[in-house]
Amino acid sequence: MRVLVLSGPNLQLLGTRQPDVYGSETLDQIHARLKERAAALGASLQAFQSNHEGALLDALGAARGAFEGILLNAGAFTHTSIALFDALKAVNLPCVEVHLSNPEARESFRHTSKVAAACIGKVSGFGGDSYVLALEGLIRWLGARAPGAQQ
Ligand code: DQA
Repeated sequence: MRVLVLSGPNLQLLGTRQPDVYGSETLDQIHARLKERAAALGASLQAFQSNHEGALLDALGAARGAFEGILLNAGAFTHTSIALFDALKAVNLPCVEVHLSNPEARESFRHTSKVAAACIGKVSGFGGDSYVLALEGLIRWLGARAPGAQQ
């Protein structure tokens, strides 16, 4: 199972960015943890961060055939990007929306997600663990739908 992990704007600053909100783990540390967990679950993982909406769209557009599932923390694009919603619909791979913080408990402009309706589910509010929990959920979801899986 191959999983694409996409992180959007400002997430390269994790570790020093508002640690009270996002924790003190860097994105590299989260990716390292994710890779370990993926390997333990028999999956492989490719991680990519960009501050540019177009680069995230390009990565999503190329995902079909290369990955079985996606984790997406679109950062602030979560709340604005119809293009990311369209790309997820177009690529038609299972995607879990991820957030370190719990956007619903923050400013009202964070309460709406443009990508949620194109995702199979969402994990938010657990810091770096949100990514790990999302990976576990995605792998379980894919396993349950694999040919020959118990109904
Ligand atoms: C975030 C939440 C977003 O509202 C915010 O714009 C981010 C990070 C999170 O992981 O908690 O950049 O996606």
